[in-house]
Amino acid sequence: MIDMSAILVIFGGTGDLTHRKLMPALYNMLLDGIVPEHFRVVSIGRRDKTVDEYRNEIRASIDRYSRNKVDENIWSKLCGMISYYRFDFRDFEGYPKLKAYLDNLDKEADTKGNRIYYMAVAPEYFETIVHGLHIAGMARQEGSWSRLVIEKPFGKDLKTARHLNQKLLEVFDEKSIYRIDHYLGKEMIQNIMVLRFTNSIFESIWNNKFIDNIQISLTEKLGVGTRGNYYENSGAMRDMVQSHIMQILSLVAMEPPVNLKTDSIRTEKLKVLEAIEDITPEFLRENVVFGQYGRGFIDGVPVVGYREEANIPKDSNTETFVALKLHINNFRWAGTPFYIRTGKRLGTYGAEIVIQFKDLPNILYFSDGHIQEPNLLVIRIQPNVGVFFQFNTKDFTSHHGIVPTKMDTSYENPSQGNTPEAYERLIYDILRGDSTLFSRWDEVEASWTIADRIIKYREQGNVKFPNYDAGSMGPVRSFELLARDGRKWWNI
Ligand code: BG6
Repeated sequence: MIDMSAILVIFGGTGDLTHRKLMPALYNMLLDGIVPEHFRVVSIGRRDKTVDEYRNEIRASIDRYSRNKVDENIWSKLCGMISYYRFDFRDFEGYPKLKAYLDNLDKEADTKGNRIYYMAVAPEYFETIVHGLHIAGMARQEGSWSRLVIEKPFGKDLKTARHLNQKLLEVFDEKSIYRIDHYLGKEMIQNIMVLRFTNSIFESIWNNKFIDNIQISLTEKLGVGTRGNYYENSGAMRDMVQSHIMQILSLVAMEPPVNLKTDSIRTEKLKVLEAIEDITPEFLRENVVFGQYGRGFIDGVPVVGYREEANIPKDSNTETFVALKLHINNFRWAGTPFYIRTGKRLGTYGAEIVIQFKDLPNILYFSDGHIQEPNLLVIRIQPNVGVFFQFNTKDFTSHHGIVPTKMDTSYENPSQGNTPEAYERLIYDILRGDSTLFSRWDEVEASWTIADRIIKYREQGNVKFPNYDAGSMGPVRSFELLARDGRKWWNI
């Protein structure tokens, strides 16, 4: 039996992430009966408030963001587990007091000295807090475990990520560091391996002999909203490509691991990133498209351009869209391109992976100039969740035609996007000590190595922004990227 007894210490207890994701996730975990019997949550914040005030605020957020309606019994149980601890985490003298408080709580709640330190704060504080934990002897305690949870962004580039990682490793070992990528908590992302490695009809043709190309699209209707300050220094490359897209790409392209152990899976994922064709400026000139949205309409409603959003400079050159063609140079994938695209303020909202299979020769059918529709397998991550498959059959209505038939197992998931649901799975795994759905340092390092080159190329280039209207599907050049290869983006 794994002992999951623990105190979850949330740095940033009054912040957005805690309110929208972590607390609603904890509530639903409790409802599902997967919160350990001996468990406490200590939320840390700088503001002066009583524990009752804090609990009331949390209750309001759970009412608002939880996927299940609040049951008073469950809430009162969770409520009793939550405390608020006022403390400025920049004050190193406060850490020993916090330690004493937590140690004391252990006695009352029988939480065995186990700790989860959750960094739900701005990234510039990660190092400070970890240092505070270190000097107070809170990171490693005899006879118990301590785990550190880090939200993205993990660094701003390879250099800062390496620096941060080194600072973390001085205090926690790699196995105790949980780097969150919330996409890995999504059902269909976890399903990629299951689909591939439990179905002979997929896995036996999952290679360059049968697959023409693979497309990964994460498209959003939302703009940057109130996150201008963060986004302006991030852009789509750091915000989406370096993290979520690289993770998805490695799951789609990896070799079967030798077993389901965390490190076996992570090692195979890493090999994919290492096999990505050397990203040179010459390569990028032909194979990457950056975009930034101008004014336009989303669902008929007028919206402002990126440069008019709050906290964005009028001459900003930050990209809100990226389309990229990549090659994975290994035996399985050489010759099969991977197209990825992501952007804000696009005409559709969704995340999907499209696997387009190669056409058969047009000898028996389609020789009369009719177009053969390809077999498409679509892994739908959101808003619909499930699998879509397209194949050709006879058209019974016309006696001679052949039509693509669509099989769709997907269903509309009422809770969409960056939901607490992904966090339920992730928090549960942290409690269990299973880091499979978190990124290992060398994966982060490999994806920064790729992202850095692309970001550097953009910074040197001079694309004229804005170059797509809000509500469109991105810059024209993104369509040309595929058209040049005789292909197109599939919108299923
Ligand atoms: C976050 C990004 O990691 O993912 C956001 O910082 C983005 O900019 C979000 O909107 C998308 O996640 P989801 O789950 O809503 O697709």
